[in-house]
Amino acid sequence: MTKEWISWLKNWKISPEAFRRLSFATLVILAIIIVSGGAVRLTQSGLGCPTWPDCTANHLVAADSFHPMVEFANRLITIGASAIVIISALAAFFRKPFRKDIVWLAMGLVGGLIAEIILGGLTVLAKLAPPYVMAHFILAILIVWNAIVLYAHSATDDRVPTRRVSKETVIWGRLVLLVLGAVIFVGTAVTGSGPHSGSPIAQRLPFKLRDVAQLHADIVWLLIGLTLVGLLLLKQSGAPEDVQKAGRFLLVIEALQGAIGYTQYFTNLPALLVGFHIAGATVVWMTALWLNLLFFERGTLEDEAARNQDDSKVIFEISHDKALSEQPKVPASSTQHSFFYKRW
Ligand code: HEM
Repeated sequence: MTKEWISWLKNWKISPEAFRRLSFATLVILAIIIVSGGAVRLTQSGLGCPTWPDCTANHLVAADSFHPMVEFANRLITIGASAIVIISALAAFFRKPFRKDIVWLAMGLVGGLIAEIILGGLTVLAKLAPPYVMAHFILAILIVWNAIVLYAHSATDDRVPTRRVSKETVIWGRLVLLVLGAVIFVGTAVTGSGPHSGSPIAQRLPFKLRDVAQLHADIVWLLIGLTLVGLLLLKQSGAPEDVQKAGRFLLVIEALQGAIGYTQYFTNLPALLVGFHIAGATVVWMTALWLNLLFFERGTLEDEAARNQDDSKVIFEISHDKALSEQPKVPASSTQHSFFYKRW
C-alpha cells in the first residue's frame, strides 16, 4: 500500500494551467479573508463562537443568530484559505515543468500563514490591543502581495522579464506602492485610534482620531496626485494600452475609496461603510501591485511548454548520443531514466 502511494506520488503531475488556476483561487480567497476578518471585527462577533472547533458547546455549526453566524463563516473561510495555501505549496512541487521560483513563492505563502496564525494567537493574548490588530492586517496585505506575484509567475514562463515601459515609469510604480503602503499603515492607525479597533475594552492608540484621519487623508491626496502625474507619464512615454488602462483604473478606485473614506468619517464610522473601506483598500492594493507587474513581460505558458520540449529534445539527444557511444555498458532502460530525471 505504502509503495503504491509512493509511486502514485512520484507520477503525480500538475499541469502549468491547473497550477495557474489554483494560484488564482488562492489569491481570491486570501483577499476575501481580509474582508471577512474585518467583518468579524466590525460586528464585534469575535466571541460569537466561544469554543473551538465547536462553535458553541456541543454544536459544530453556528446557531441561527447573527454573531455566531459571522464568526462561523469567517472560520470556514479561514479553514478554506489555509487548506488552499497548503495545497498550493504541495502542488508547486509537482508542477511539471518544475519551477524553483514558483516553489519559493508558494512556500512564502505557507510562511505567511504560519506567521499570521502565531500573530493571531498573540493578538488574542494581548486582548486585541491595536498594535497587534494593525500588524495582523498589514501581514495579511503582505500575504496578498506574495499571492499576486505567485499568480503572475504561474501564468508566465520563468525567463528573465523584459521591461515594457520607461525606467521612469518603473520608478513611479514603486513610488505609488510606497505611498500606498504609507496610506494603509496610517489607515490601520486610524482604526486603532477609533471605535472599530477590535474590542470595546481594548485601550486605543494615543492619537486623536481627527488628527490621524487627517494625516491618512493627506497621504491619500499625495497618492492621487502621484497617480495623476503617472498617467501623464504613461501617455507621454507611449506605454502599452493595458498599462495605461490599469493606471486609469487605479485612479478611479483610489477616488472611490477616498469618497468612502470621507463619507464614513463624516457619518461617525458606520460598520457597513467601514467594511466597504476595508474591501476597497484590498482592491486598491491589488490593482497597484498588478500595475507594477504589467511593467514587465515574460513568455507565456505556451512558450514555456515549447521551450521545455526543446530542452527535452536536447537532453534526449545528448543522452541518446552518450548511450550510443557507451552502448555495451549502458542498457536502454537506464537511458530512459536519465532522460526522465533531467527533465525534473
Ligand atoms: C486610496 C485611498 C484609501 C485607502 C487605500 C485607505 C485605506 C485604509 C485602511 C487600510 C484602513 C484600515 C482598515 C482597518 O484597519 O481595518 C483605513 C481606515 C480608515 N480610513 Fe482610509 N483609506 C483611503 C482613503 C481614506 C480617506 C480619503 C479617508 C478620509 C478621511 C479615510 C478615512 C479612514 C478612516 C476614518 C478609517 C478608520 C475606519 C475604522 O474605524 O476602522 N480613508 N483606510
